[in-house]
Amino acid sequence: MTDADAMRRALHVALRGTGKVSPNPRVGCVLVRDGRIISEGWHDHYGGIHAEVHALRRASESLEGATMVVTLEPCNHHGKQPPCTDAILATKQRPDGTLDPSRGIRRVVVGMRDPNPQAQGGIERLQQAGIEVTVGVLEAECRWINRFFVKHVTTGMPYVIGKGAISLDGFIATREGQSQWISGEEARRRAHALRAEVDAVLVGRATVERDNPHLGPRLVRGRMPRRIVLDTGLRLSMNYRVLCDEHRMRTIVATSRERAESSAADALRREGITVVGVSVTSAGRLALDELFVTIGKELSITSVLVEGGAQVLSWCIEHGLLDELHLFVAPMMLGQGISFTAALSAQSLQSAPRWQYHALGRAGDDTHLILLPQRPS
Ligand SMILES: NC(=O)c1ccc[n+]([C@@H]2O[C@H](COP(=O)([O-])OP(=O)(O)OC[C@H]3O[C@@H](n4cnc5c(N)ncnc54)[C@H](OP(=O)(O)O)[C@@H]3O)[C@@H](O)[C@H]2O)c1
Repeated sequence: MTDADAMRRALHVALRGTGKVSPNPRVGCVLVRDGRIISEGWHDHYGGIHAEVHALRRASESLEGATMVVTLEPCNHHGKQPPCTDAILATKQRPDGTLDPSRGIRRVVVGMRDPNPQAQGGIERLQQAGIEVTVGVLEAECRWINRFFVKHVTTGMPYVIGKGAISLDGFIATREGQSQWISGEEARRRAHALRAEVDAVLVGRATVERDNPHLGPRLVRGRMPRRIVLDTGLRLSMNYRVLCDEHRMRTIVATSRERAESSAADALRREGITVVGVSVTSAGRLALDELFVTIGKELSITSVLVEGGAQVLSWCIEHGLLDELHLFVAPMMLGQGISFTAALSAQSLQSAPRWQYHALGRAGDDTHLILLPQRPS
């Protein structure tokens, strides 16, 4: 078994923490001896034991000479859990407490270094104790499963994904606003899987008024994300699902700073809804960059799925706020309707937002495009 084979398995088990570990990273770990996996572990939920300790505890065979393969650098600090480096070094201890380099875990293979300055130093500590450490195996894949964590821990802001179901000619709804359903069942299932993966789903006021969405991952198994609604003037009535259903305590209403101090905001707070006040731009829109900073820092939200509608998606694209964009393109044409980029107006080809394809595939009858922004280097 190669290091890459073992890392692939570690990446696979890391996904068991999906939707449960935030704001921590998803981490997977396998222990390999004599060319086969003898144990595996993962970080299962926030505050729970780390993947390395999980794998060590689950091992039912001797660890003598074993290799640990882990997607993220073992932590070297006391957080909610003691340092993983301690647990690894404990496998090398003689009964008198001194370290014996020939005992226990002999080699550690790490997918990527921990970008969290507090947790760093694990690799060096293991090396000082005589453990051979290899860094960077399937690093791109390890970074991808932890892209939310990496962005949040390095910038304080959530990783923002845009998502839209569009017709072949780029509309997210008919002229009258009908959008259910442009995409098919498989595309909707994938969109729900995204909801289950992120910390929060965001929509504009018009989408709430038109569709009264639930925003939960009903077509897949997964926990309910936080729901963020943009409502500058607090004009939405309390009868919409996001404001009155049993998950309303997970709803965040973003509004102007002024309205956040109003009695209407207090009425929302009495229902357990979080109200966040942000600045209003000269165009009369909520400053979403400021909103993302606030929810990243104050509510530890590491990822947001922006589901629309057109005004909100266009705003995010125009202001360079999306880190990733999922488009489900249905084989249907509308001719007229609400354009997915309605509020975007590129002045020239040079200034038009450009994207690169990350993945391109089918979702039932629809095409599923995953795009990453081309940012000036
Ligand atoms: N096919 C799809 O994937 C999909 C997904 C979602 C929605 N839809 C459809 O999209 C339509 C609604 O889209 P829409 O474009 O009319 O409205 P929208 O984007 O849902 O909501 C726009 C409203 O959000 C508020 N807002 C606050 N800050 C904003 C900001 N920075 N940028 C943009 N909006 C901000 C504004 O209302 P205030 O000034 O009152 O705050 C604004 O009028 C519906 O027909 C719905 O069915 C389709």
